[in-house]
Amino acid sequence: MDYKRTLITSALPYANGPVHIGHLAGVYIPADIYARYLRGKGRPVLFVGGSDEHGVPVTIRARKEGITVQQVVDRYHELIKSSFERFGISFDVYSRTTSDIHHKFASDFFRTLYDGGKFVQQTTEQFYDEETHEFLTDRNIRGECPRCHSAGAYGDQCEKCGATLSPDELINPYNAVNGNPLTKRATSHWYLPLDKYQGWLEQWILEGHKEWRTNVYGQCKSWLDGGLHPRAVTRDLDWGIPVPVEGAEGKVLYVWFDAPIGYISNTKELCDARPDKFGKWETWWQDETTRMIHFIGKDNIVFHCIVFPTMLKAWNECNEGAQYILPDNVPSNEFLNLEGDKISTSRNWAVWLNEYLDDFPGKQDVLRYVLTANAPETKDNDFTWADFQARNNNELVAIYGNFINRAMVLTHKYFEGRVPVCGELNDYDRQTLAELAGIRGRVEELLDAFRFRDAQREAMNLARLGNKYLADTEPWKQAKTDLARTGTILNIALQIAANLAIVFEPFLPFSSASLYEMLDMEEHAWERLGDTDLLEAGHQLREPRLLFEKIEDTAIQAQLDRLARIKKENEAAAWQAPALKAETNIEAFDKSDIRVGTVLECQKVKKSDKLLQFKIDDGMGGRTILSGIAQSYPDPQVLVGKQVLFIANFPPRKMMGIESQGMILSAVNDDGKLVVTTVSAPVRNGVQVG
Ligand code: 2FM
Ligand code: ZN
Repeated sequence: MDYKRTLITSALPYANGPVHIGHLAGVYIPADIYARYLRGKGRPVLFVGGSDEHGVPVTIRARKEGITVQQVVDRYHELIKSSFERFGISFDVYSRTTSDIHHKFASDFFRTLYDGGKFVQQTTEQFYDEETHEFLTDRNIRGECPRCHSAGAYGDQCEKCGATLSPDELINPYNAVNGNPLTKRATSHWYLPLDKYQGWLEQWILEGHKEWRTNVYGQCKSWLDGGLHPRAVTRDLDWGIPVPVEGAEGKVLYVWFDAPIGYISNTKELCDARPDKFGKWETWWQDETTRMIHFIGKDNIVFHCIVFPTMLKAWNECNEGAQYILPDNVPSNEFLNLEGDKISTSRNWAVWLNEYLDDFPGKQDVLRYVLTANAPETKDNDFTWADFQARNNNELVAIYGNFINRAMVLTHKYFEGRVPVCGELNDYDRQTLAELAGIRGRVEELLDAFRFRDAQREAMNLARLGNKYLADTEPWKQAKTDLARTGTILNIALQIAANLAIVFEPFLPFSSASLYEMLDMEEHAWERLGDTDLLEAGHQLREPRLLFEKIEDTAIQAQLDRLARIKKENEAAAWQAPALKAETNIEAFDKSDIRVGTVLECQKVKKSDKLLQFKIDDGMGGRTILSGIAQSYPDPQVLVGKQVLFIANFPPRKMMGIESQGMILSAVNDDGKLVVTTVSAPVRNGVQVG
């Protein structure tokens, strides 16, 4: 197929928190490299992004923060959008699934399938909280993992062992928000019968897309081999797009039904606003000469390779005219870990992009470089601060930056900053130029195969070539006897420098912009990559500036200290009352020695966002107890004088250097806030409860 244009989509991140390095490495940097590369080649590209503002994750965050869901999505949509902008992610459109256009588009899409008889309606028993009168979605149900038996696994996944679960499999399921036990109630939903599309999917993926990455192909194969089942596309929830069917009050479209439609509605939003530049949305989605590529992380594979294509296929079956195209490739990445641990929003185990930019202003390209060099393309990878520092200091500074600096400084020293004339070439020059000429083919082959880390390594090899060329030809020595030869060498070095600006543009756009500026040269199209006449003799260069700076140990240590602090806080928080309520069985509870005590002093623990330090009159000489409840008490003094319940026989434990001798009991109140349980009638301190 002779494709005329490429539609690039990147997974819509949930607007339930800031974005972190895992998002950038897994999805947005590779998508951006690919978009920039194709644009550089002059190919028509449309790069779609946006925030996923429905679903359970945003509602959980709203409860945690005590604000409305709308406030949550407004806040994080803006934060995420600006983080992406600051990292140079070159979306053509970045919109949101709460937009009117999207609501209407997704609703119409559902209705087309509904009217076409594509759904099956089923009534099933679902988990229900009798106290809050709500059905619970998979993410809001927790319990013991049936595989690894760790506590607190989610209804759809165990974060400890990675198992994909259904809520029915959890042992002792409970409401993740308030710890309530759950019952079951009947509810009716619409299902997309994936089983009916099994044969078609097998043909399309297993026969038609053997070229997909092995991790993607393998995951699809294992889903298909396991046999597909109908999948519910509606939920009992009050946040989302209402199901556009009579009698479906209180139900919304499942977030995974509407989110991928967001790619289409965002395209429509852009095309309606800028038809001059982008044409009609239908050209991007319903013209078979368009090639569509989905950039995603591995937890999204099934939705992009199986569910969304089935939705599109079902829609096509309902329409005689327009037909949606299907993805040509889905280059999904595996996961990026942080210092050996899984990145987790809830545990704050992440490097947040907004915080990185505060700590390392102007160093967007350093992170882009490190994340691509370490991209989890074929297996999970680890981000470490030591590696970040080493790649900056030993590669960006010592190889790329050093080469540019030497070429610039020497040209200023011997030729007043003018590009010298290229004289007669010797064999070594010719060999170097031949290698330069091959760069485009080498990098293109890798980028076309979505092998971004190898492609970036190839770009860095060009800087290595430049360094080696200068080291071997020693223009500073030649300058003493043969200035013409020095000129030839520097001309070649400067042509390599200009090529570096082109080849690194998709990877390190900010550095390429600086380099173009230093060379005082117009941005060149990708097609000129490998040319040896990018800079004319006599062209005046600007003053040399350092492209990259060394990162000192102190900056790295500060990041490591932050992570160590978070680890300690997490250990302390894992020790809190809701965990006891929800996850401790009755036998363990019976063994707890619960007593009454009066709070004598209460203050925040230094350098901790979560911990409060209590001094308790326990009727037995007093004790200190730490509790991870600081976020509920901006003014801890309000607790002084109150009588509280504490577990007296918890083994003493040190947190943030302070020994905690017990555990204060707390509970989640109606607005989802954790509060200390207090005693209303005065009781003698030290009295046992129960
Ligand atoms: O996993 C996630 O973060 C989802 N919000 C991705 C959605 S991708 C697409 F379908 F919009
Ligand atoms: Zn598990």
